[in-house]
Amino acid sequence: MTDRFAEKLLHWFDLYGRKDLPWQQNIHPYRVWVSEIMLQQTQVSTVIPYFERFMASFPDVQSLANAELDQVLHHWTGLGYYARARNLHRAAQIVVTECGGEFPDDVEALQQLPGIGRSTAGAICAIAHQKQAAILDGNVKRVLARYHAIAGWPGQSSVLKQLWEQAELHTPSERIADYTQAIMDLGATVCTRSKPDCDNCPLADNCQALAIGNQADFPGKKPR
Ligand code: ADE
Repeated sequence: MTDRFAEKLLHWFDLYGRKDLPWQQNIHPYRVWVSEIMLQQTQVSTVIPYFERFMASFPDVQSLANAELDQVLHHWTGLGYYARARNLHRAAQIVVTECGGEFPDDVEALQQLPGIGRSTAGAICAIAHQKQAAILDGNVKRVLARYHAIAGWPGQSSVLKQLWEQAELHTPSERIADYTQAIMDLGATVCTRSKPDCDNCPLADNCQALAIGNQADFPGKKPR
């Protein structure tokens, strides 16, 4: 890309990104997977103590697969969206019985596991395996919709397709784990839904929504 999107984002990450989260230490596919599932619908500060307790009780995929579902659900109490915990338990059993206890390291295989969609599969590939893979969670959709002024509701397939295309185009071949964390952090802390802090955004120079002054219009809302 000629707009140096990834380069600028990585520079911002070096200065301001979070590098001390528990799942960023002892990076292992199992830990990255559990963290990404917990982070799907829950914010970082809430997830941290749950992640620590979960890892203390289920330190590896084998121990999770062998646990009783009730025990796993108990560790989820308060996090909500309990289907995530059931899927995690089922996926652990599949990894142990069908993958020899080794996590798949490609997007297609990961997406076969319960609870893992395209974006979570991309995040696991990028963060745990340093493989070039795009992500597109809610925060990233907002960043890209604004940057490229992609109109329309991302629940609509044509809009989603454009967002994935841009996500793929911007994904760098180097420092993929840092880039992946950086774009999620930018969406969570700078390019926020109601109060984007454009003065402190590393991508402001080329942001189409900022140029028109209509950041609040992106991403588009669900038609009613
Ligand atoms: N949301 C989903 N994955 C995340 C991550 N790795 N860091 C912060 N927020 C996230």
